[in-house]
Amino acid sequence: MTRVNVSVVGVGRWGPNLTRNFYSNPDSFVVSVADKDITRLKLLEPHYPGIIITESADVIFKDSTVDAVVICTPTAMHYELAKKALENNKHVFVEKPLARDSKECKELITLAKKMNKVLFVGHIFLYNAGIQAVRKLIQNGDLGKIFYYQITRTNLGPIRTDVSSLWDLASHDLAILNYWQNAMPTKVSALGGRFINPGNEDTVFATYTFSNNVLANIHVSWLNPKKVREIVIVGEKKMVVWDDMDLSNPVRIYDKNVTVDRPESALVDTFAGFRASIHEGDTLLPKIRINEPLYAECDAFLKAVRDPSSCITPGEQGLAVVQALEATDRSLRENGKEIPINY
Ligand SMILES: NC(=O)c1ccc[n+]([C@@H]2O[C@H](COP(=O)([O-])OP(=O)(O)OC[C@H]3O[C@@H](n4cnc5c(N)ncnc54)[C@H](O)[C@@H]3O)[C@@H](O)[C@H]2O)c1
Repeated sequence: MTRVNVSVVGVGRWGPNLTRNFYSNPDSFVVSVADKDITRLKLLEPHYPGIIITESADVIFKDSTVDAVVICTPTAMHYELAKKALENNKHVFVEKPLARDSKECKELITLAKKMNKVLFVGHIFLYNAGIQAVRKLIQNGDLGKIFYYQITRTNLGPIRTDVSSLWDLASHDLAILNYWQNAMPTKVSALGGRFINPGNEDTVFATYTFSNNVLANIHVSWLNPKKVREIVIVGEKKMVVWDDMDLSNPVRIYDKNVTVDRPESALVDTFAGFRASIHEGDTLLPKIRINEPLYAECDAFLKAVRDPSSCITPGEQGLAVVQALEATDRSLRENGKEIPINY
């Protein structure tokens, strides 16, 4: 199998991680990295002997030896850089969110099809072993009918100024929900606060409804004392907590539910009667083989270059996430009004 020649555009905070993972993958060869900030390039260069560094992404686009380009710049540059890469016959990996709006996403999808190239979106959590294990539980029916998801993604920073916490953080959660539900939500109502930057919400509380009435509440913030990456899934038969901060046991399955044989009377007037309506069984900690999701994601991109049908995070998924984010922004502007999400 020939190696895929990869180049990375944007090596600020996150790009060096992508560079490292493609560099260590036997199926790829990192030809070059571009960043308009020379100090970022100089920091990276000593770790990768022989790598070409350049302040101009155009050098990469014009290099016919480059098969694939990884775009890891702020969101505002994703569309322009991905477009140029596709026009120059490269496969493209774009960090999330795919672009600033759905119009840009649609153009990239159309262009990728026309050029017969892969457009892959960095929805990294779909390559997280815990998220994959929970998907199996949901889709095998082990949890029964899903009632709701409670999602918390908070921390103190890193604070971005190019996009809101919604676009930065909830893009991950919408991609996860899409992966678990095999569907996107159809309605949203959201409130948020611009406590640090006047232009962008640093804190958002958004509630999504799916067509089958499953509810998902997403709380994202980079103005919070606690780093939390947690999803509570409440099903009719069982409940699950996915906690990405728990490296030993990221998934906990609670054999808890409200039994059907609860007292006939609408009024449960004794403590014993109340207890009888609640089933509390064991808590199971399934063994999850912890992977580096970023390595798995980069590997999936290389596989997608060879076999586009293997791609689980294509441009279309990036578009659907952006469409949900746009509707959420509308609800934020209209003080929490419920907004239908059109795909
Ligand atoms: N998957 C994840 O978990 C994850 C984590 C962090 C960031 N990200 C995503 O990665 C992207 C970058 O985030 P970051 O935190 O590294 O941002 P950053 O601002 O730290 O780095 C961006 C880099 O891009 C460079 N750049 C900007 N425009 C350029 C251009 N036209 N040509 C070449 N270089 C250019 C900047 O000089 C900077 O060094 C964002 O889309 C973000 O959402 C994803």
